[in-house]
Amino acid sequence: MFERLRSGFWSWLPVTLSNGLTTVGLLAMILGTSPAVGEPWHRLLFGIVIVVWGLIAMESIVGFWMAPAAPGRHAYLASAEGLIDLSAAFALPIGWLVASAPGDALLFALIWSLRYIRHTSGLTLFWRIMKRSRTPLLSIASLFAVVFLTAATLAYVFERNAQPEAFGSVPRAMWWAIATLTTTGYGDLMPATGWGRLLAGWVMVGGIVMFALQAGIIATAFAEELQRRHFLNTWDLVTAVPFFQGLGAAAIADVVRLLSAREVAEGTIVVRVGEPGDAMYFIVSGEVTIHLTSGSLKLGPGQFFGEMALLFATRRSATVTTTKPSVLLVLDIADFRELAGRRPEVVNLIEIEGKRRRAANAATARF
Ligand code: CMP
Repeated sequence: MFERLRSGFWSWLPVTLSNGLTTVGLLAMILGTSPAVGEPWHRLLFGIVIVVWGLIAMESIVGFWMAPAAPGRHAYLASAEGLIDLSAAFALPIGWLVASAPGDALLFALIWSLRYIRHTSGLTLFWRIMKRSRTPLLSIASLFAVVFLTAATLAYVFERNAQPEAFGSVPRAMWWAIATLTTTGYGDLMPATGWGRLLAGWVMVGGIVMFALQAGIIATAFAEELQRRHFLNTWDLVTAVPFFQGLGAAAIADVVRLLSAREVAEGTIVVRVGEPGDAMYFIVSGEVTIHLTSGSLKLGPGQFFGEMALLFATRRSATVTTTKPSVLLVLDIADFRELAGRRPEVVNLIEIEGKRRRAANAATARF
């Protein structure tokens, strides 16, 4: 019963309701900072923030309690969702502990804005990307720290006499170092000495290189993660097609890399008679009709079509339309040739069926 309750919880408490709660709380906090708001309104807004906090804390507790049995509550707390829930629940208590003025404690409600991304699938993607690229990113961050400290120290050495106000100590020079290294360059501080300017040039170039490296690392991890997801989705579809089930895991992995899934609406012409062949198709679900001159026949899940034009370098022998909404796996002509080279046993099976169909069509035409 608990499992049912757990799985049904998020559908019972719609995401929109949760986001609406966050919006009300944030709006009340933001309006509460305006001096134009009179005292009675001020009290009302304070009350709203407190009520929203209570509801958010309750939602977080329920989320923790209902965390799936596997991987468990510890895993939930270590996940992005768990961390967001936890920080949202503790936002105001932490504010009361650390804020100097009591009114400022409410500003910590800003943390609630993280709840907007809590329900998006992009968050899981972002979390996985950060986890995957944490080692190279940490290396870049360490390099950044080294360059930053060196820049601040050298700027202090070169500039302390010329501009004691801005560069009179290493901590003071740090402001220039961070603004230059991040290539923000406010222009409020500029080295006056020749050595200082030379240093500034190196720091600017170093900053650009480090940000480019970081962007490259994140972009690569992003592309790899998307590829992995595509691979897993296609894997599920491919293994659902009986034609591929007899293949070993290595062969399936090769096939999965080459196929892409396509959802096709009912009544779509997938292949038109007389056109050159550019791809063949495996039916995962749905149904297609092959319109031959001698009549029509239907193919369903597990069967394939469009192979004849590729195998025999001919034009399409028939028009093929979907008669039900269908999911097809597409193997385009270049990938078909690659598959023939890598996995001849798979293409041989397709060829046997292609030859049978061609012979059947020729026999019908003769008749
Ligand atoms: P192709 O000629 O590339 O495009 C039309 C497709 O219809 C063809 O490949 C086959 O996949 C399919 N097809 C043609 N004739 C038959 C048949 N007799 N039985 C099943 N499928 C066929």
